[in-house]
Amino acid sequence: MAGPVPMFTAVTSSSRQLLLLLRCISFAKMAQVRISAEGIRFSTEEGSAMEAFIFLEKAFFSSYTYRPPPPSSSQDDAPATPIFEINLTSLLETLSIFTLSDPNAAKKPGEYDSFAAHRLNRHAGINAFSHQALGMSGICRFTYEGDGSPLGIHMSESGVTTTCDLTTYGADSTEEIPFDREAIALKTIMRSSVLLEAISELSSMNPTSLAILASPSSRSTSSNLSLQASGALGSLAVDFTTDPSSDAPLLETFHCPSRVNATFKFSLIKSAQRAMGAANKVSMRLDEEGVLSLQFLVEVEAGSAGGEGVAFVDFRVVPLVEGEAEGINGLDGESTDEE
Ligand SMILES: *[C@@H]1O[C@H](CO)[C@@H](O)[C@H](O)[C@H]1NC(C)=O
Ligand SMILES: *[C@@H]1O[C@H](CO)[C@@H](O)[C@H](O)[C@H]1NC(C)=O
Ligand SMILES: *[C@@H]1O[C@H](CO)[C@@H](O)[C@H](O)[C@H]1NC(C)=O
Repeated sequence: MAGPVPMFTAVTSSSRQLLLLLRCISFAKMAQVRISAEGIRFSTEEGSAMEAFIFLEKAFFSSYTYRPPPPSSSQDDAPATPIFEINLTSLLETLSIFTLSDPNAAKKPGEYDSFAAHRLNRHAGINAFSHQALGMSGICRFTYEGDGSPLGIHMSESGVTTTCDLTTYGADSTEEIPFDREAIALKTIMRSSVLLEAISELSSMNPTSLAILASPSSRSTSSNLSLQASGALGSLAVDFTTDPSSDAPLLETFHCPSRVNATFKFSLIKSAQRAMGAANKVSMRLDEEGVLSLQFLVEVEAGSAGGEGVAFVDFRVVPLVEGEAEGINGLDGESTDEE
């Protein structure tokens, strides 16, 4: 097709990795896409209470070109970074064409442990490994020609090519949920599976809210973090205490200058479960406004272009204000606490 040179082209042989990452934020049906010279960002949101995003640096791709359109003379503004929305469900369906032939992926689609299984398999022996290598041979090319044009996805594997044009929808450049890195009330790093287990355990009671409580550790006492879920059926807590002298502390980092207590809608935290399952580690932070940042470190195959072998999936969650927290727990009207 002799069209104009696309504004954006990116090629990856890691479509399976891309699928794994995008599934982490697939709690919403639509995703916003932003393309820049540095990389491509996919984000999803739940109203204005939560957002999740993945930023894939251009090094993730084996080739990446972005040519911003020349500034139009009729407009004063510099060319804006392309922002559009796509149907994430369709994108995931398209990308999963490659992984259907992968027994690990097909057996348990979307299961939390599919990535763990994949990692085990990678070390399990030559057969599993060579199957994996076969799966990785698929090449996926993205193209975007500019405002209003579809996001083209061209996939080829063993001589078979699949082409899919995903409709792009105009997007308001939504405000990101602000997180103040300079005013950190809590920062802790743990294995992501530890958080997944805690959230799964707390889910059993079908709670409506989750409070994150932490208190500073002193020389003598251990780090102290508590996740408390509450709902109509009561409340349940999972406490994390780490002996600072332990060789493999549960909480690898624990920074908590003073006591913190922030409450979130439980269902929002639960939306990060897939990310918890896919990631190796998670950095959990609260800023002084109580905004929660969960940053998941996900191991990916080192990119053919020398990528780092890790990718990050970020979640930001806005806390419930005091009245709201009690309201959703069905305790409306009982609170006389003042601010
Ligand atoms: C997205 O695509 C799926 C199928 O791929 C379709 O079922 C769904 O209705 C679409 N959603 C929107 C919001 O267009
Ligand atoms: C940890 O926090 C919980 C709840 O905030 C508290 O009951 C407990 O005494 C604390 N433990 C330590 C060792 O600070
Ligand atoms: C945390 O805050 C909630 C409401 O904001 C309150 O009900 C709860 O008692 C507080 N918990 C602690 C341990 O301070």
